[in-house]
Amino acid sequence: MSTVLITGAGSGLGEALKEVFLRKGWETIALTHHVLDVADQGSIENLVKKLHGKPIDVLINCAGVYDGPADGESTATTVDTLAEVFKVNSIGPKILADLLLPNLVKGKGKLVVTISSVMSTYSKLDDYAARHWSYGASKMAVNYAMISYGKEHPEIKSVLIHPGWVKTKIGGKDALIESSESAAGIYNLVVGKKNYPAGKLIDYRGKIIKL
Ligand SMILES: NC(=O)c1ccc[n+]([C@@H]2O[C@H](COP(=O)([O-])OP(=O)(O)OC[C@H]3O[C@@H](n4cnc5c(N)ncnc54)[C@H](OP(=O)(O)O)[C@@H]3O)[C@@H](O)[C@H]2O)c1
Repeated sequence: MSTVLITGAGSGLGEALKEVFLRKGWETIALTHHVLDVADQGSIENLVKKLHGKPIDVLINCAGVYDGPADGESTATTVDTLAEVFKVNSIGPKILADLLLPNLVKGKGKLVVTISSVMSTYSKLDDYAARHWSYGASKMAVNYAMISYGKEHPEIKSVLIHPGWVKTKIGGKDALIESSESAAGIYNLVVGKKNYPAGKLIDYRGKIIKL
């Protein structure tokens, strides 16, 4: 049986991913925010200690925060609130992948998926994205970190996925797709029903997005 570890699995896309992997018979380590805080070194280390020696086939870095309310105009503007966006979206996923490397090497899947965003790209930098620069910049930073991770560890495939505009707390009520549709697409990418390149940003259907 293959094992997947999903962060941010208490709501939205993470919860939908948990459901699809469970349905497909995977051993699913689905971590809610209160079990794993990816912005907290101690929380990550505790988890890694508990998982010592356990093979993990696929790590999905799904936990994330926006830089303000999904439907509102306000964005993070202080050192502390901006730092939180980068801790959760950029630093946490990389540290977790670093510390789980022995588990990933033991697993057969050898895959790290990081949920990024189309808002991380220069190609989609419009006025809206510019106002929400810290979210986009934090996702751009995680792109860089996780492409670097793939280069540092060529035995592990490190993939960046834009999940689509999904109806969740982050996506808001005007979003275009349900979390189940996005999760099903990501599952198909993980199990290799579609080809996907490492070191590139792709959407949940496997289409490459220009960075
Ligand atoms: N929805 C979209 O349209 C969209 C588009 C592009 C990318 N994304 C990305 O998709 C991912 C999933 O987001 P979502 O849309 O499903 O929104 P969501 O429902 O808000 O899910 C985000 C999850 O991350 C958790 N989380 C927040 N801070 C955390 C921390 N420090 N440690 C661990 N978990 C934490 C949240 O838990 P709490 O709520 O309990 O804090 C929540 O369960 C995020 O990375 C997001 O940036 C979403």
